[in-house]
Amino acid sequence: MKKQIQILMVEDDPADAELVKYALRKDGLAFIIERVETSEDFLRAMAADAPDVILSDYALPTFDGYSALALAQKMLPDVPFIFVTGTLGEEVAIETLKNGATDYVLKLRLSRLAPAVHRALREAKERTERKQAVEQLRQSHEQLRALSVYLQHVREEERMRISRAVHDELGQALTGLKIDLSWLSSRLPKQMNPLLEKTRSMSSHIDETIQTVRRISTELRPGILDHLGLVAAIEWQANEFQTRTGIQCRFAHALDRTILDENLNTAFFRIFQETLTNIIRHANATRVEVDLYDEEGHLILEIRDNGRGITRQQIFNMKSIGLLGMRERAGLLGGEVRIQGAPKTGTKVTISIPCTAPPRTNKRHNENSYSRRPRSSTAWAEANPRR
Ligand SMILES: Nc1ncnc2c1ncn2[C@@H]1O[C@H](COP(=O)(O)OP(=O)(O)OP(=O)(O)O)[C@@H](O)[C@H]1O
Ligand SMILES: [Mg+2]
Repeated sequence: MKKQIQILMVEDDPADAELVKYALRKDGLAFIIERVETSEDFLRAMAADAPDVILSDYALPTFDGYSALALAQKMLPDVPFIFVTGTLGEEVAIETLKNGATDYVLKLRLSRLAPAVHRALREAKERTERKQAVEQLRQSHEQLRALSVYLQHVREEERMRISRAVHDELGQALTGLKIDLSWLSSRLPKQMNPLLEKTRSMSSHIDETIQTVRRISTELRPGILDHLGLVAAIEWQANEFQTRTGIQCRFAHALDRTILDENLNTAFFRIFQETLTNIIRHANATRVEVDLYDEEGHLILEIRDNGRGITRQQIFNMKSIGLLGMRERAGLLGGEVRIQGAPKTGTKVTISIPCTAPPRTNKRHNENSYSRRPRSSTAWAEANPRR
């Protein structure tokens, strides 16, 4: 059965209403019509059941078309509103359309009404579908973000748990083994030299394994990050990086308070690690400078290398998954990662994340720190020649 269109009609003249019905029916439109004359009835009808379309006269004894349009816009902004009037000057017609009316049809030309209703309904349907699609997209984006937050969290929790288990349980077991071994060797007769030699080599093997266990545990998640905060962790990582790669790495900060916000710390630390990995793999740099400071409620970490310089294409390449991950991590906390490169001068990565309780700035200022503000990229490039 053909779907009946629900029409709400604002019209004081019953004869005109009949003419409208006749014109619609003639065009094969199936509809139910409710006619109202006053603003009270109009409001009540809109509240009771939203119509598919509103047809309204312009001049009524106790009510006028403009007010009807304003009420409909407020209550049912998505329902098409068509003026069906005796006379409507061109200027008034344009004005009504500007104010949100869908169309206007003169009573002398009612043959236009059915096509106008059809078009209005089709456009309204398209608008609704578009809105739904946008809403669905927004929801799925939100779900993806929530999933991403969850996965990051789970991954970090897992790393923390394994790191502690490896450190505590394996570490303790190895220490126990070493104590037992030393007990055994102290009881071996002096003349059993080969066995004594063996216990000595086993003991140094256990020492090496203890070092390996510590390294694995720290690589999973450095305890320093949770116990001493971000500044200490960045400093530690910068030193590790320098020792391991031979690339000179200077760190300065202008904060006088330990930051122990776990999410913030994790985000900064992981992005920092990813940036250092990129420097090792791609930059061919000899020097890295790292600055941590706060500015206008944001915690900012700047990492500059004097390597070959990332290109614009690499920065915005959708396949740069490492860079995307860095941006996503900062984005999840309402922050951002800016990346700039200058050929043969180097690459600058700036991580900026809002911190709810901004850390106090050290008035005395850290000795090594040369600036609380990021320099402009040209100033940075000039001050940062290749060697
Ligand atoms: N410090 C840097 N100096 C020069 N080029 C860089 C630097 N960091 C990144 N790049 C360039 O940007 C590209 C994208 O980096 P990204 O971290 O996204 O990917 P990747 O390091 O190649 O791989 P992965 O997904 O394992 O991180 C790199 O392939 C490299 O060409
Ligand atoms: Mg990378």
